[in-house]
Amino acid sequence: MKVYARWMAGGLLAVALALSACSSEPQLSAEAARGQQLYKENCLACHGGKDRNADPNGVGAPPHNGEGHTWHHPDQLLTVVTLKGSEVVYQQPGMPAFEGRLNEGDVQDILAYLKTWWNAEQRARQAAATEQVRLQLLKQGS
Ligand code: HEC
Repeated sequence: MKVYARWMAGGLLAVALALSACSSEPQLSAEAARGQQLYKENCLACHGGKDRNADPNGVGAPPHNGEGHTWHHPDQLLTVVTLKGSEVVYQQPGMPAFEGRLNEGDVQDILAYLKTWWNAEQRARQAAATEQVRLQLLKQGS
C-alpha cells in the first residue's frame, strides 16, 4: 500500500510537471504581449495564428509565421503595408489600411509579437534587412 501511495504521488508529480511544461510558452516581452493583444483584435481573423499555413477566411492574406514571406521584409515596409494598406504598396487590394486605428508604436509591438514566430535565422536576416534600410534612410537624410 505504501509503495502504491508513493508510486501515485510520483505519477501525479510527473503529470503536474508535464502540464507545467506545456503551459510554459516562452515569456513574451512587454511589447510582444501588447502586440499579441493588438494582433488578436485586428489581424488574426484574416492572417490566422502562428500555426496556420492556409487562408482562414479566403481573402488571400498570407501567413505571418516562418512559412510565409513576412520575415523577408524589413520592419519599415511591414509598417507601411499595415498603416497604408496593400493597395499603396503592392497595387493589390485586400489588406486594409490601419492608419487612424493603429499608430507606428502599435505596429512595432505587433511586429515584436510576430518575430516570436520566426526562428533565430529568420529573425537575424529580417533584423539585418531592417538595419540596412535604416542606414539607407539615414544616408538620404530622412
Ligand atoms: C480584412 C483582412 C485583413 C486584415 C484584417 C489584415 N490583413 Fe494583412 N493582408 C491581407 C491581405 C489580403 C494581404 C495580401 C495583400 C496582397 O495581395 O498584396 C495582406 C498582406 C499583409 C502584409 C504584407 C504581406 C507580408 O506578409 O509581408 C502585411 C505585413 C500584413 N498584411 C499585416 C497585417 C497586420 C499587422 C494586420 C493587423 C493590424 C493585418 N495585416 C490585418 C488581409 C488582411
